Amino acid sequence: KSRMYVGEMRVLVTGGAGYIGSHACLRLLETGHEVAVLDNFRNSQMEPLRRVQQLTGKSLALCEGDVRQPESFEAFLEAWHPESIIHFAGLKSVSESVARPEDYYATNVQGTLNVAEVARTVGVRSFIFSSSATVYGAQQEVPVDEAAETSPVNPYGRSKLFAEQVLRDIHAVHPEMSVGVLRYFNPVGAHVSGKLGEDPTGTPANLMPYMARVASGVYPHLNIYGDDYATSDGTGIRDYIHVVDLVDAHLATLEALDVEPGVVTWNVGRGEGVSVAEMVSVFERVTRLSIPVQVTDRRDGDVATSFANVGKITAATKWTAQRGVEEMVRDLWKWQSANPTGYTLES
Ligand code: NAD
Ligand code: WQD
Repeated sequence: KSRMYVGEMRVLVTGGAGYIGSHACLRLLETGHEVAVLDNFRNSQMEPLRRVQQLTGKSLALCEGDVRQPESFEAFLEAWHPESIIHFAGLKSVSESVARPEDYYATNVQGTLNVAEVARTVGVRSFIFSSSATVYGAQQEVPVDEAAETSPVNPYGRSKLFAEQVLRDIHAVHPEMSVGVLRYFNPVGAHVSGKLGEDPTGTPANLMPYMARVASGVYPHLNIYGDDYATSDGTGIRDYIHVVDLVDAHLATLEALDVEPGVVTWNVGRGEGVSVAEMVSVFERVTRLSIPVQVTDRRDGDVATSFANVGKITAATKWTAQRGVEEMVRDLWKWQSANPTGYTLES
């Protein structure tokens, strides 16, 4: 149970079979941590976990359970006794959250409370939560810093904000469990091996997975949601971050909380805004393919520009994002071309 050197931990990764969680499992195993996954496979499969073990030559423990039902994972946590939890398990579709808010509050808010409560009772020392830049809502002054007002505009965003607040309130009375709230900007890309990546079910709602499917011929063109924003080229500006940089920010946060316990809320992005039109041209340059586009109306709920002030996390940890947009596109394309049907093998 005792650690062999500072930095080696037993980490439970909830949602570990998902897009970001699977990359986190890989990095944790690569850096010498022990890993267990809690997932109900609602939005994922076993295959990425098999590949994580194959890529690292190490094995991870698995608890097939549901964060909405503490009795489905309590005994596992008592037996496995994690020192840290990275809590990725959750639902993330904005449109689905409008149609089924109950699911989003049950999974993202009650589920987070359940995991935190069991974590506390088994003596977990640090808890990292996947929040989102979406908590900032519509009125944004860029770069957005963590003190900016939060006013999410949909149930998904509100569920993330409520869960953040639940964790801060728990920390206030139970400071023995440190809490890291990480607000992700726009995670994209894939593992450099081309073996792990994002595998959205149905039509992707997000820009980069959609663009990758246009490039591979699944869709005839990319819809650009508005080119009349008050930005340099009229298209929306976001802070894209390579998924491997994003998961490395979690490892850095675990270390920081180990050295200095407490509660932190940090943006995770590159701190740089890139427009939709720029992403299209980077994609075309890197892949040497052409991406037909069609400009359509703006999408409801979109802001013109969002990018992070990442001064807090970079000052408190040794972390900064290492990978630029070219690498994001290169790795996304490697994943997409090697796995045209995602993790499901073509029959
Ligand atoms: P994902 O859907 O790929 O992964 C989420 C995982 O959680 C899946 O494996 C899913 O099966 C699992 N899960 C869902 N409900 C569960 C439940 N009730 N019990 C146990 N497991 C359950 O999503 P992702 O992109 O990897 O996102 C991970 C986290 O990061 C989510 O909490 C998401 O809200 C947050 N986040 C994602 C983004 C993004 O753009 N991808 C941005 C900001 C925040
Ligand atoms: C990026 C830009 C679009 C698709 C969403 C969630 C957020 C977070 C990350 C989880 C915008 C434009 C998009 C397309 C386009 N997820 N676009 N054509 O909206 O910044 O954030 O994902 O927490 O909560 O809201 O990301 O990738 O959907 O859009 O022109 O087909 O691309 O208008 O400017 P977004 P996105």
